[in-house]
Amino acid sequence: MSESIAITVVGSGYVGLVAAACFAEIGHRVLCVDNDEAKVNALNQGVVPIHEEFLPELLGRHRASGHIQFTTDLSHATQASQAIFIAVGTPQSQTGNADLSYVDAVASEIARSIQSYKVIVEKSTVPVYTNDWVRRTIERNGVSRSLFDVTSNPEFLREGTAVKDFLHPDRIVLGADSDAAARLLAAIYEPLTSGSYYDRSDAVPGGRSATDLPPLLETSTKAAELIKHASNAFLAMKISFINVVANLCEAVDADVDQVARGMGLDKRIGKRFLSAGIGYGGSCFPKDVAAFRYVAQQLGIDFGLLAEVEKINELQKERFFQKVRSALWTLRAKRLGVLGLAFKGGTDDIRESPALELIRMLLDAGSSVCAHDPAAIERAKLEMPPRENLQYTDDPYAAADNADALLILTDWAEFSRLDLKRLRYTLRYPIIIDGRNLFDPRVMQDLGFTYLSVGRPSQHTSVESASTKRWP
Ligand code: UGA
Repeated sequence: MSESIAITVVGSGYVGLVAAACFAEIGHRVLCVDNDEAKVNALNQGVVPIHEEFLPELLGRHRASGHIQFTTDLSHATQASQAIFIAVGTPQSQTGNADLSYVDAVASEIARSIQSYKVIVEKSTVPVYTNDWVRRTIERNGVSRSLFDVTSNPEFLREGTAVKDFLHPDRIVLGADSDAAARLLAAIYEPLTSGSYYDRSDAVPGGRSATDLPPLLETSTKAAELIKHASNAFLAMKISFINVVANLCEAVDADVDQVARGMGLDKRIGKRFLSAGIGYGGSCFPKDVAAFRYVAQQLGIDFGLLAEVEKINELQKERFFQKVRSALWTLRAKRLGVLGLAFKGGTDDIRESPALELIRMLLDAGSSVCAHDPAAIERAKLEMPPRENLQYTDDPYAAADNADALLILTDWAEFSRLDLKRLRYTLRYPIIIDGRNLFDPRVMQDLGFTYLSVGRPSQHTSVESASTKRWP
């Protein structure tokens, strides 16, 4: 039987909320602290603020058992816990550097309440050397060095599959510079590393099992901080790389899917994160690539490669926009259906979404847009309120209704299951411009679509003849 540890998680954003729910799920007693009183009240009443598979079930289960509680009282939570995970936001500042003011404020507040030994854990994505700053901040507040350790336990969860990623991780990285802190962190993850969690009949299903345990990697705190930034930057680089290869494919009429498959079968390269598209977005990659580049620059290391990764990512959106323009000749007064608002499928998150940026560009160019997304409409409306030239709809076919073209901007699995014959006759012209390569170009041609995607040969059909047919 694993030890139940008293844990505080500070911050109830994506990482904090998922980590808190998952720590409770593996048997710990969790206090989740946020300074937003309305949010804490809502969480205590069972409201789940983000769209995330398994999260409502876990929060419901562990709120009911008292294993997870939400509070604004960081001082009490600190005193009641052995480990305090800092999972507050680290937004991008104007220089590209991560803004660590929330981490700083939380560290000072924790310091004021420390009376016995605590392990402070960085869970937010932070630049290397942040642990030093947190340690100094706590010391400056008069806390003896023997009463705390600062560690780094980066999180690698992806939005949309966050709970599974947490409970069935590729690896668990524990960065600690003292044995006592390393032991406590290892004990927290013991239900996963020993496999006892996977033997439970009510365990969240995923890739791991008692015979395929997640490896635990113990490192220095600095190495752990670097692992997180380097991993995100590397994945972003993979995406930018395949996007340039896709552009090359377009120039020579080759298929980037075939090229990516051929590359990915080499185990040293790997198949994943080689999907060409309209560029990466979200709350992590854009911010983390910029922050990692900034850290390197501060340390006098030339990491110009990351500037290229960012540049390619920006150009990829512009290139897609031009593709839409050249398919439709002019964009003024065109009615466009848009499928997808979230930065990727499976989430309602629209932060740094390439889809929203493209919609803005299309509106600026004089088109009108009717957009559908399975989860992100409400969030999108807050950022881009509906108006005469921008409508939202719950029905994907309504987005396509009488449109001059349909654009696919997010890789929702639902979209690949749409009734294409129905779409064909719903659109004014059977033109689909797919920024996520969801369909087989040959199938689309057989169905009579003009189908443009990213890095694959275009399929054209006679628009005039197609437009006269109506859906029965
Ligand atoms: C990313 C990382 O994948 C996680 O490991 C990490 O923990 C997380 O950031 C974080 O730092 O918190 P996430 O932002 O949820 O997770 O999204 P991803 O699934 O990585 O996708 C990022 C963007 O890249 C999306 O816009 C997606 O559409 C795009 N993408 C992804 C591609 O364009 N091509 C691909 O092959 C893969």
